[in-house]
Amino acid sequence: MEYQELHRPQYHFTARKNWLNDPNGLVYRDGIWHLFFQHNTEATTWGNMTWGHAESRDLVHWDQVDHALYPDSLGTMFSGSAVVDKYNTAGFGEDALLAFYTAAGQFVNPQQPYTQCLAYSLDNGRTWIKYEQNPIIDEIEPGNRDPKVIWHEETERWIMALYLSGDRYCLLSSQDAKSWTHLQDLTLEGDRECPDFFPLKSPSGDEKWVFTGASGNYLIGEFNGYEFKPQSPLQRFEHGQNGYASQTWSDAPNNRRIQISWMTGGLYPEMPFNQQMSIPVELTLTGSSQQLRLSRLPVNELTSLHRKTTTISEGVAAKGNSFKIQSDATFFDLSFDLIRSEANTLYIVIRGQALTVNWLTNEVKFEGARANKVVPERNPVPLPNKESNSLRILVDKTSLELFVGDGEISASFCYLPDAYSDPIVFNCYEGQQLIKNIELHEMKSIWADEKEAP
Ligand code: FRU
Repeated sequence: MEYQELHRPQYHFTARKNWLNDPNGLVYRDGIWHLFFQHNTEATTWGNMTWGHAESRDLVHWDQVDHALYPDSLGTMFSGSAVVDKYNTAGFGEDALLAFYTAAGQFVNPQQPYTQCLAYSLDNGRTWIKYEQNPIIDEIEPGNRDPKVIWHEETERWIMALYLSGDRYCLLSSQDAKSWTHLQDLTLEGDRECPDFFPLKSPSGDEKWVFTGASGNYLIGEFNGYEFKPQSPLQRFEHGQNGYASQTWSDAPNNRRIQISWMTGGLYPEMPFNQQMSIPVELTLTGSSQQLRLSRLPVNELTSLHRKTTTISEGVAAKGNSFKIQSDATFFDLSFDLIRSEANTLYIVIRGQALTVNWLTNEVKFEGARANKVVPERNPVPLPNKESNSLRILVDKTSLELFVGDGEISASFCYLPDAYSDPIVFNCYEGQQLIKNIELHEMKSIWADEKEAP
């Protein structure tokens, strides 16, 4: 049955069939969270880039609807963003949705450049009309792409972050979303592609701006509508191997800043689809004004999928005596506190794949991600505390997302299960390890009927 295949994620978005990569055009309007995505409509491999489209009312359940943007004579449809034009700056109509995307010219003609283009929708994203005077921005540098647009209220202008090449990006501005002026170039060391640029309130209430790149590096600073001045050192929000090309929703209600990523590099043998999205996470700024950082936690809406909960106040894993949680779940939301005990290493074996906690280096490694050689191996995940750490682990059929503490550390991984008889086993081969406040929530499938079977 559709959406029931062996390796089909049960609470993460996948395309009904064929290839998917970056999230695109994330915008909220009139109760609908739009998720457009890089899609190959023809095959389970990358190519023929088209904007696929899914809609949600709760950030959890998704309906894939008709594709939004198809390749044309300017190129195939590469990544970009969307906004609500609430002041009708572009003149297409009040509350029109505007989509900014890259036409990857090279894929229709090797000589043709990558240009930035505009499309609009007058029916809340169901159908799109490409602007007849496209492109709106000619090539600045070969390969420039991935426009991310946001409205800047104080200066009443649109701001676009655009990827140039290497680790370089630029900011542009516009009053009508059609003609654009260059503001500045900027560098995001060690990163490339898919910029995002958005404000967040710091814990003391000041507005800060965050600039992120596809691999999860970011800068925090000030922005006055003309110039972005980074004030923080370069930091990372993605410590796993498979989080990439994250973007945040425009026009989200209650000033929420919700982010979703492509879980790049997973393997889906014999499936009709390829690749999946991450769980949507809510972003906040935490820390002191000297050392602000991004925190990421799964959106609260996810708890609506909790089906059956097991709580265990305390468990001990010791040499020759592993600690198992009784369950036959294959996708779940698990949290617990790890208290530093005698063991230097703990192996949390999830669906046959080990998550290794090393108390000597204060790091976590997910061995399951090793099977996946598609993306380069990243450093282990740092643990913030030496005495105890709270972990939340979202496990789906082919993905594992780890959130530590208040979300200051998070990591996304893809995996395939190995042989196992219990889905969650804590193992120590020396000493013992205390585990407290264990909560296991088995999850409802987002693809099942809204109402649960009795
Ligand atoms: C990032 C990326 C973007 C590009 C798109 C093409 O994964 O390479 O830079 O627009 O994918 O699918």
